[in-house]
Amino acid sequence: MNASNHVRIVEVGPRDGLQNEKAMLPAAVKVDLIDRLSATGLQTIEATSFVSPKWVPQLADAAEVFAAIRKAPGVVYPVLVPNLQGYERALAVGATEVAVFTAASEAFNQKNINASIDASIDRFVPVMERARADGVAVRGYVSTVLGCPYQGEVPVADVVRVAKRLHDLGCHEVSLGDTIGVGTPAKARAMLRAVAAEVPMAALAVHFHDTYGQALANILACLEEGVRVVDSAVSGTGGCPYARGATGNVASEDVVYMLHGMGMATGVDLDRLIDTGAWLAAQLGKDTASRVTRARTAA
Ligand code: HMG
Ligand code: MG
Repeated sequence: MNASNHVRIVEVGPRDGLQNEKAMLPAAVKVDLIDRLSATGLQTIEATSFVSPKWVPQLADAAEVFAAIRKAPGVVYPVLVPNLQGYERALAVGATEVAVFTAASEAFNQKNINASIDASIDRFVPVMERARADGVAVRGYVSTVLGCPYQGEVPVADVVRVAKRLHDLGCHEVSLGDTIGVGTPAKARAMLRAVAAEVPMAALAVHFHDTYGQALANILACLEEGVRVVDSAVSGTGGCPYARGATGNVASEDVVYMLHGMGMATGVDLDRLIDTGAWLAAQLGKDTASRVTRARTAA
């Protein structure tokens, strides 16, 4: 059991949250969002994604956004990169941490990055080599850890194999993604326990989408198992454009509210986070998906 009381939130709203938005958001609004998030006490804010702009047009402005954000002291701003081309674009604007991503399901990987699991990892090898030489930290994502929209069930052994491979390659942290939010607490706990037998718990994070309303329950089960890094998105935005049926990430406001209610520390100012979530929902012309923000901002 992990006795630590501190949970690090990895805010993925500016990347995962926005990548699935159909209406193009101006770069200046994205910069404003990240600057607002930087003032909440968050330590890690995934800022954008240097993937192919043909695949994710919403984040075609990654370089412009990354260059313009105010880099707050003590805050890390990782960015997603699928290959060396993405890494070079990210480095050109001064990224100090990148995230590579693959999946435990072959079918999903083909749809999302047009590659098999092994081929995607082969693409990461030169990224890892360059990152090591450049002193750039690399995070790794494993998607579809509790189910795949195309293949259905995903064997836990496949999740363990891919997570271990990313860790062995040099990813300092491996985030386990329930991309389509189908997981339930006992399954989430069993999956995390199996991965933690091969990768140290301190190097693991959990990433739940809330499609079926299970995300907070799953996070609680994983906290009990010992994880202390949780991905979430302000206002509950998010979803992968290549995962059929995937909706938003668990809302950061709701995660922080739950953690503080349990006596755990995040360093995040919940009121500022709620203000930021309400502001983002207005920018997107949508109702917030955060229950906490809804409760606090109700007229
Ligand atoms: P491809 O078409 O197989 O790649 O795409 P390619 O190498 O053949 O290149 C095709 C074109 O893309 C070329 O341009 C390249 O230059 C360009 P053209 O010659 O046709 O003009 N290209 C790039 N341009 C800019 N930046 C780059 C880049 N790479 C190639 N980095 C590729 C393969 C991986 C590039 C593509 O499939 C892709 O970008 N996919 C991204 C999909 C994506 O972003 N999905 C969402 C993120 S994953 C997620 O959300 C899950 C997560 O949240 C965890 C969870 O919830 O489980 C992380
Ligand atoms: Mg995601």
